[in-house]
Amino acid sequence: MTNEQYHTLIHPYTDAMNLILTRLEILNHCAADNEDVRPIHGITHRIKEKISLENKLKKKNSNGSVQDARTLLKDIAGIRVICFFERDIYQLAESLKKQTDLILVCEKDYIRHPKPNGYRSYHLVLGVPIYSMDGMEYYPVEIQFRTISMDFWAAMEHRICYKSQPFDELEMKSAFRQYAEILDGIEKSFEVYSENCG
Ligand code: GTP
Ligand code: MG
Repeated sequence: MTNEQYHTLIHPYTDAMNLILTRLEILNHCAADNEDVRPIHGITHRIKEKISLENKLKKKNSNGSVQDARTLLKDIAGIRVICFFERDIYQLAESLKKQTDLILVCEKDYIRHPKPNGYRSYHLVLGVPIYSMDGMEYYPVEIQFRTISMDFWAAMEHRICYKSQPFDELEMKSAFRQYAEILDGIEKSFEVYSENCG
C-alpha cells in the first residue's frame, strides 16, 4: 500500500471516528449538568498507523491491499472511553446502540466474561454512515469502554507482558488474574460510596 493509498483509505475512518467522539461528548454532558459527576473520565482515540495496519494484514495472510484493509480490519478507527464506574459503561454503550443511524457490527463483553488472563473491557464496533458525493457507506469504529482500574490493568499488562519476561509465565499469569480481581474489588468499594453520595 502506498502512502497516498493509505491516506485516502483512512479519510472516511477519521470522519466516522470524529462523529462518534462528538456523540460521546454529547452523552457525557447530557448525563449530568454538574461536570463533577459526569460518567466519562477521559477519551483517547487513534487511527491505526500504516505500519501496524500492514503488520495486522500480514498476520491475517492478506496481500496488504486497500480492499483487504477495508474488509478485514474493524479497528482502523479506535476510541477508548475511560469511565468512573461499570454502570456508566453499560449506560453509555446502550445509549450509543440506540442511535438508529448507527449499526452494530460486533460486541464483546469482557467485563461480564473476562479473558482468561484477567483482561476486562467492553468492546463495541459500530458502523457509522458516511455520506460522500456518490452515496453512503458504513465505516467501522472500535470503541473500548473501560473503567480507570481496567485501563490501569490493561496498560500494565501490555507494558509488562509485551516482551518475553525472565519470570515464570504461569506464575505471572496467575498474579495478573489476581490483580484484576483485587482492582475490581477496590472499584466496587468506591461504587458503594458513590451510590451513597448520590
Ligand atoms: P486484535 O487482533 O488485537 O484486534 O484482537 P481481536 O480482533 O480478537 O479483538 P479483541 O476485541 O479481543 O481485542 C481488541 C483490542 O483489545 C486489542 O487490540 C487490545 O487493544 C485490547 N485487548 C484485547 N485483549 C487484551 C489483553 O489481553 N490485554 C490488553 N492489554 N489489551 C487487550
Ligand atoms: Mg485491535
